Amino acid sequence: MKKLLTITAALSLMACGGKKAEESTSGTVEVSEGDIAKLTPQETLGQEIFDGKGNCYTCHKPDGPAIGPSIKEIAKVYRENNGDMVTFLRGNGKPIVKPEQYEVMKTNFYLTKTFSDEELKAIEAYMHTYK
Ligand code: HEC
Repeated sequence: MKKLLTITAALSLMACGGKKAEESTSGTVEVSEGDIAKLTPQETLGQEIFDGKGNCYTCHKPDGPAIGPSIKEIAKVYRENNGDMVTFLRGNGKPIVKPEQYEVMKTNFYLTKTFSDEELKAIEAYMHTYK
């Protein structure tokens, strides 16, 4: 049953993906303005990739689980374990957050492997802005 619910959530996330831009202009997206203002240029680049060509936002929400764990949870586990996200996103690391769902995350490596060091480091920096 749990699996079924997850799939439903995935579908509804995809369905509303196209509305994202519209929502942000009307100011209904739940992001604290303070967080945005504090981003460094590197973190901003990371955010652009995360919400843009990386498509990461479809599975990772800031708070709370979606298809994948929340950004907060991932950042916390990486901090606690001194993990290296860049190595993971190159496909050279081991999953430390939800190893049992690694197969789903692995489908993104074809894309993340095309990102430059600078881009991968920017994604890592952006994810670590969630404390
Ligand atoms: C199709 C859904 C999906 C997309 C898209 C996705 N992820 Fe994930 N991601 C997951 C799932 C599920 C997990 C949990 C499995 C795991 O821990 O490896 C995960 C885990 C992770 C982890 C933790 C890995 C660990 O050590 O366990 C990181 C970091 C991560 N994702 C980053 C990203 C980034 C960056 C992107 C965009 C380039 C992205 N993800 C896109 C589903 C997705």
